[in-house]
Amino acid sequence: MRTIAFVTQKGGSGKSTLASSLAVAAKDVGERVCVIDLDPQASLLSWRKTRKATDIGVIPANIGKLPAVLKELAKKGVTLAIIDTPGADGAASMAAMREADLNIIPSRPSIFDLWASAQTRAALKTTNSDFVFMLNQCPPAQQSARVDAAIEALEEMGGMISPLVLARVDYQEAARHGLGVTEINPHGAAAVEMRALWSSIKRRLARAATKPATRKAA
Ligand SMILES: Nc1ncnc2c1ncn2[C@@H]1O[C@H](COP(=O)(O)OP(=O)(O)OP(=O)(O)O)[C@@H](O)[C@H]1O
Ligand SMILES: [Mg+2]
Repeated sequence: MRTIAFVTQKGGSGKSTLASSLAVAAKDVGERVCVIDLDPQASLLSWRKTRKATDIGVIPANIGKLPAVLKELAKKGVTLAIIDTPGADGAASMAAMREADLNIIPSRPSIFDLWASAQTRAALKTTNSDFVFMLNQCPPAQQSARVDAAIEALEEMGGMISPLVLARVDYQEAARHGLGVTEINPHGAAAVEMRALWSSIKRRLARAATKPATRKAA
């Protein structure tokens, strides 16, 4: 089982939105997915309750239970665990960071988000965990100078994963109905983004697995 975590000190960057649509996109291509909700706001537990299908489990957990929950999921044959974390709770983020094979730090292309991303990166460095940044909620005009500057800043801080995710109504509509964007609009641009994001993450996980010294060396 591989474990990924969405982490960032910044609230509202899109952790829960991306975690839910990515869970569905990965399930679509054969992963057995379980989401672990570490956030007391429980956004993804609510998403699961709205969802009619029982194909993706969502489990609430706290910091103390997280390692045991992950062990249990691996035993049950889950192939991908996705951890959603609260925006401001440093302890929960740190627990997720330590457990994840790959941490994903979503950031909007705004200076406040980029500063928060730098703080998250500093926390990640102390846990010696693998991480990658991604840009979410980018404006539709892709060539904006603001997006270019954000890409440059995140590349300098440790690297970005593709694709750029744009601000799109599909993300909000899918979440509202307990769906992923690949379900609510399978041929839409958001669905294309989420499939591409899962492919990038999968490649990155495979690469990390062949280089064990790059993560969790402690
Ligand atoms: N790509 C996107 N396009 C459009 N809206 C988005 C996108 N990503 C996130 N949003 C919206 O931004 C808001 C914040 O997203 P979300 O709740 O997923 O962030 P979060 O990082 O989980 O926040 P918190 O830290 O509070 O848990 C929500 O209203 C969500 O619908
Ligand atoms: Mg959230």
